[in-house]
Formats: sequence, structure tokens, C-alpha cells
Amino acid sequence: MSEVAKFACDGHELEFPVVEGSEKERAIDISQLRKQTGLITIDEGYVNTGSTRSAITFLNGEEGVLRYRGYAIEELAENCDFIEVAYLLIYGELPTQQQLDTFRSSIASHTKLQDGVPAFFDHFQKDAHPMSMLASVVSALATFNQDSLDPTDAAQIESSILSLMGNLPTVAAHGHSKITGAALNHADSELSYCENFLHMMFSKSGKEYKANPLFVKALNLLLIVHADHEQNCSTSTVRMVGSANANLYASIAAGVGALSGPSHGGANEAVVNMLYQIQADGGDVEKYVKKAKDKEDGFRLMGFGHRVYKNFDPRANIIKAACDELLEDLNLDDPLFDIAQRLAKVALEDEYFIKRNLYPNVDFYSGVIYRAMGIPVEMFTVLFAIGRLPGWISHWKEMHESPTMRICRPRQVYTGANSRQFASIDKRG
Ligand code: ACO
Repeated sequence: MSEVAKFACDGHELEFPVVEGSEKERAIDISQLRKQTGLITIDEGYVNTGSTRSAITFLNGEEGVLRYRGYAIEELAENCDFIEVAYLLIYGELPTQQQLDTFRSSIASHTKLQDGVPAFFDHFQKDAHPMSMLASVVSALATFNQDSLDPTDAAQIESSILSLMGNLPTVAAHGHSKITGAALNHADSELSYCENFLHMMFSKSGKEYKANPLFVKALNLLLIVHADHEQNCSTSTVRMVGSANANLYASIAAGVGALSGPSHGGANEAVVNMLYQIQADGGDVEKYVKKAKDKEDGFRLMGFGHRVYKNFDPRANIIKAACDELLEDLNLDDPLFDIAQRLAKVALEDEYFIKRNLYPNVDFYSGVIYRAMGIPVEMFTVLFAIGRLPGWISHWKEMHESPTMRICRPRQVYTGANSRQFASIDKRG
């Protein structure tokens, strides 16, 4: 007999099924609770709520495990490029060579933006955040792709997936050009996904640009480790919006909006801003480690600790090696890197950080890598969005393919005024 959880309330004893996942994690299915008792559950921030069953990503924060479709992140990072991982996430299996070639060339054929899209950038403010530009343009893409908006039509969904995968780096490069004033280079479909993105951002007109292979490698790794992280805030947003049968562009635009928040995708930006702050204050890292330990102070070391990973962040382990390799190769004379390296060393040897399992997370290293590559700090979250896109798409697609899909509609416990007598405007105050 399958396991049940017993629940006593109002003199009744009720039983709810216990659902078990493929990795043995268990959950109580309370979907019939309100029907049977009139009660709902409350769980602010959804810290204890499973919103769905999903076969895409498994993570175990205690043991530092992250797998996409069953494959360890370490193996994928070692053996695949981002497009191969994107295929795995979106379609569920690693591609054959032929499937991969077709997927690559279909994405490459969508790197050029449709006429009219670049004009959006003429009207954005130069000092606007590129994440706001990204969200607006992704939303606007629906108006340029009106033949691929039906979330119940497989061919239309496929078309919107390819257009988003191809368009997003180009839209991001337009945002970079807008905020920096650098010339925008047209996409080169002969280049790999990462090389093309670096080319669009950094080629100088009239000069041949060859991306540093270590930049390409680091960018590829960063996109892979950011590609999915199960039901995080932006992915849950994409699912929530998609559950109303909104089209893929509208759903992804909402995900970009969620990711733009400093509590979510903005942490790598916060790392570099913190390093600036330490530099401006004389570069004394011990002082900031002390501040972080002081409960009265409220200061936290950005890029340290993680809500889910309590022993180590497997993504940070992967990109730390790329970060070290890059910094050694570039041998840049940048005081921020020196501060970053000293800060990590001091914190990792400090009793406070050791006791609480606080170690540099993925954002610490990604912030440092992006800076070493010459990417402006405002663009960091945009790069996160490029990496997260296949994860968002795969969750949206999984939800639409589920026979049990329903519109997401949480409930609430109302705490406002009880029924009141309406007062006409002359009788108020
Ligand atoms: N600096 C100093 N102390 C810290 C830090 C930090 N960065 N992070 C946690 N602590 C301390 C807390 O003060 C607390 O100490 P106490 O037990 O003495 O009260 C203890 O470590 C546990 O901290 P919590 O806040 O309970 O941990 P939680 O899981 O809620 O927070 C979080 C995780 C939000 C990531 C936190 O570590 C933090 O704020 N880090 C800095 C911001 C950051 O880097 N965010 C990016 C996360 S990675 C990502 O989103 C992809």
C-alpha cells in the first residue's frame, strides 16, 4: 500500500498520499486538503512548497549535487558546450551529432534580429539598466513573431524556442552597445555561440577580432552552470505566467524581470560593487571580514554562502578553476582581483565562515570572471539570463506537455478589514 500522511483537524483524521520522487525525496500531496477540510496551507516564500513534479534538474544542497536530466554538472561542463546542454535541457536527451548540428545551425540562423527590433534601442535611455532593455525587447519579440505564439502548437513552440535562443545574445549585445556607446557588430553565424557573442560585443570595426580561447571557455562554462536550477524565482515565474497559456516570449520576458532582482540574478553585480567599496576604503579585506562577522553591522560578504548549497556549491568549484586560469593568463594589473583573492583566502580561513559553511559561491567567481573579460558590471545579469534561457524554456515546455497542467493560482489568508459600510465622498474624513 502506498504511504500516507495522517493529519488531524476539527476532530477528523485525514490521510494524504505521500509522493516520492526518483531521488527518494518525499512530499505530502495536500491538493485535496481544502476540499476535505476548508483549510489551506500557508508557506510564505514557498520555502516548503513543491509547486510541481519535474524531470529536468535534480539538486541536493547538503551534498553539493547538481544534475541536468540525470547528468552531473561536472561531466557536462567537462564534455559539452552550452548549446549541447541547452538541447539536453529542452528536449530531454543528449543530442546525436546530427541533431546537434541541426540545432546549432537553426539557432545561428536566428541571430539576426528582425527589421524593426534594433530600433527599440534608439529609444531607450542610455543610462537604463540592460536587464530592463532585455525584458522589453523579449516581450516585443512576440509582436514580430505572431505566427509562433500558440502554446498548444508544437511547431509554433519550436519556432519560438529557436528564435529566442538565437535572438537573445544579439539583443544583449545591443544593450551593451547602448550603455557603453561601443559600436555594435553584426552577428557572425560562422562562429560558435560564445565566440559570436564576444564578437558582437568586442569586435572593433576594421580590425579582425579573435576571441581569447580562455574567454570562450569561461563563458561557455558560466552559461552551462547557470542553465538551470530547478524551481528558482525566475523559473517559477516563467511557469506561472506560462500556466495562463501566455506565449513563450511573454513568459520569458517575465522571467527576465524576476532575474533582474538583486536577491536573485543580481548577486554577481553586488560582488564587484563590494570589491569597489573595499578598494575605495583602502583595500583592507580584514576590516570587511570583521564587519561581515559583526551582527550589529548588517554587512554581508557578497558572493559568500548559499540558501541551498550548505557544504559547497558545485558550480563554484567548476568555475573557480576557469577563474584562476584566466587571471593567471591575463596577469591583469587590477586591484579588484587582488582584493577578491585576498578576501576569499581570509574568509576561507576564518573560524566564523568555516563554522557556518560560508564559502565563495558561483556569483563570487562569475563576477570576477566577467570583469576580467571586460564586461561591464550592468551586463552581468544579462549574461546570467542568456545562460538561464534553456532552463526557462525547458520548464515552460515541460509544463505545457504535462496532462495535469493547470493555471497556477495560489490562495491567501486574508488579514484585511471585515465588511464595512460604504461612505459617500462627502461623509469621509
Ligand atoms: N556574510 C556574513 N555572514 C553570513 C553570510 C555572508 N555572506 N551569509 C550567511 N551568513 C551568516 C548569517 O549571518 C548566519 O549567521 P548566524 O547563524 O550567526 O545567525 C549564518 O551565516 C546563516 O545565514 P542565513 O542567512 O541563515 O543563510 P541563508 O541560507 O538564509 O542565506 C544567502 C543564504 C542569502 C545566500 C546568504 O548567505 C547571503 O546573503 N549571501 C550573500 C549574498 C550572495 O552572495 N547571494 C548569492 C547567492 S548564490 C545565487 O543566488 C546564485
